[in-house]
Amino acid sequence: MKNIPKTYDQIDQWKSIMLLYNSALKEINVKIEILNNEFIQIYKYNPIEHVKSRLKTAESIVKKLKRHNIEATVDNVMEEINDIAGIRIICSFISDIYQLADLIAKQSDVTVLYVKDYIRNPKPNGYKSYHMVVTIPVYLSDGPVETKVEIQIRTVAMDFWATLEHKIYYKSQGDAPDYLQQELKACADVVDILDAKMYSLNEAILAWKQREQKKTEEPI
Ligand code: GTP
Ligand code: MG
Repeated sequence: MKNIPKTYDQIDQWKSIMLLYNSALKEINVKIEILNNEFIQIYKYNPIEHVKSRLKTAESIVKKLKRHNIEATVDNVMEEINDIAGIRIICSFISDIYQLADLIAKQSDVTVLYVKDYIRNPKPNGYKSYHMVVTIPVYLSDGPVETKVEIQIRTVAMDFWATLEHKIYYKSQGDAPDYLQQELKACADVVDILDAKMYSLNEAILAWKQREQKKTEEPI
């Protein structure tokens, strides 16, 4: 494990990695805020509705390692768990998602480890979202440490579905009968229609605004 002194006892090591991931989360949050502000200034448009971030709790890190039969050492935590630092960006439209993901990936200090595009390839239950696991350097006193952050980007409608599905699925403890799972999938299809409709409405309104503007600019 880089830059975290081996002489530290377990608790100090644990505190150090949490500090590291918390710092990575802050850095990514600042990047996203800057991108959103730049969009507002240049295009008078904010692609981001809101951003949520969270650090995985020690309890849920240990549970995840146990689930995968991996020993709960600090090294394993850093190597095997990719979502200790997690950020969720809620956008207005699907087009904003890809644009934002591209802008994040292009930043010189961001390295994309992998992408899971559940928008182009939704999960069988209907789950849609764009996931990226990236690393960014966190500058500690004795040098930079590349730190992983999981970024989930989705629309408001996708987030609505995912949040409720999580609650419903959780309550059923993953054992919901088929017909209820089919109902959830049907709701995901409605979400798709809603996203597509809102997108085309937005495009239509923009085009209409442009036409109106041209009319007022044309000499009489
Ligand atoms: P986890 O072990 O759950 O972190 O999943 P993973 O490592 O296989 O990665 P994946 O990209 O599939 O999922 C990461 C995260 O996306 C999850 O922790 C959830 O927050 C979210 N997610 C993935 N699948 C679903 C789903 O079917 N429903 C909901 N509500 N959220 C999901
Ligand atoms: Mg997770």
